[in-house]
Amino acid sequence: MRLFFAAWPAPAVQQALHGVAQRARRECGGRAVALPNIHLTLVFLGSVDRASLREIEAIAAGVDGTACDLVVEHVAYWRHNRILWAGVEHCPDALLDVVRQLSAGARDARIELDERPYVPHVTLLRNARRGPGTAVVPSIIWPVRDIALVESAARDGGRSYEVVGRWPLKPQRAGLPQDSIAT
Ligand code: 2AM
Repeated sequence: MRLFFAAWPAPAVQQALHGVAQRARRECGGRAVALPNIHLTLVFLGSVDRASLREIEAIAAGVDGTACDLVVEHVAYWRHNRILWAGVEHCPDALLDVVRQLSAGARDARIELDERPYVPHVTLLRNARRGPGTAVVPSIIWPVRDIALVESAARDGGRSYEVVGRWPLKPQRAGLPQDSIAT
């Protein structure tokens, strides 16, 4: 089975991001990611043995992480894979810490990970011809409250994603911006 850890948005956030994808598509071409598939990958695990599922679930269960709010406020284009994506100007330390803990857990479980630096991105269009010329500037607040474990399966020539588990993050402390909390 092919698995990845993700931040899985509520339907309203998926809707807002899908709206950005549809507007960008007029200019950039390509194929919009289906609304229910819109997500942010935290750690891509790749193909793993079904027998490892319990061990992988335990990685997420063992994360000591804090919720955060992502402010999705820019759209960019990667020429090498023709992906148009939405991202954040500033990635909260709380989210990077969750990614670090999940990656360390996966390595401990002897899962080989992509060694490239983590770039949080939400793929909106695949096979896009170009990036947005005129700024498509969304401003979408995405409350990240849990970690999702997602199975990616081949279906109808594309991929379908199924959330197979979710683990809550600790609430943010009221009144303090996430990054100012001393640990
Ligand atoms: P992408 O949208 O940039 O393709 C499921 O495939 C998710 O895992 C997607 O969000 C995908 O990112 C991400 N991912 C990260 N590394 C991947 C890899 N080596 N192969 C496939 N998907 C990968």
